[in-house]
Amino acid sequence: MNPDQQGFTLWFTGMSGAGKSTLSGSLAQILTEGGSKVEVLDGDDVRTHLSKGLTFSKEDRDTNVMRIGWVAQLLARNGIIAMTAAISPYTEVRNEVRAMHELRGIPFVEIYACATVEALATRDVKGLYKKALAGEIAHFTGITDPYEVPDKPEITVKTDSETVQQSLEAILSYLRSRGLLNT
Ligand code: ADX
Repeated sequence: MNPDQQGFTLWFTGMSGAGKSTLSGSLAQILTEGGSKVEVLDGDDVRTHLSKGLTFSKEDRDTNVMRIGWVAQLLARNGIIAMTAAISPYTEVRNEVRAMHELRGIPFVEIYACATVEALATRDVKGLYKKALAGEIAHFTGITDPYEVPDKPEITVKTDSETVQQSLEAILSYLRSRGLLNT
């Protein structure tokens, strides 16, 4: 347990299947083992609880992202490392969430899980790209709905060419360089 751990938010963004859940889950395990208090707000999970009933329209995605941002800053200001793993496809609302943190002096680290649609559709872990390409899912991010690439993410991990280990190392090394980890 690190009583002096400073809370902050690690905001993963990227298309479905780009590795947000994998990376946040692995990172949570590493940081928890190091004695930090961590919570992960995973997109799929949030949509079964906090955002149950919301659709994938722009308005509802923005509402979803604002809710996640709000909870993340509540956790972070209480010394917890809050990680979020939602597609969060729109720049404007991501920046609103960033501003919500910065206004309160809470560090906000945006991590872009970058992979080409081609790579994601080939891997297609959940089988959703196949369905979206067949026209069976409307407004699917990267196929029939936009994904706005972050302007200035603190970290970009290229999950279609790096290993999970390499991406994790890049994130940990950034956090150490910012003085955000005391382990
Ligand atoms: S967000 O846009 O509001 O941030 P969120 O991360 O919560 O999205 O949910 C994305 C997950 O919902 C995807 O990983 C996928 O499993 C599922 N999903 C279902 N329909 C869609 C869709 N139309 N576009 C993107 N993801 C979808």
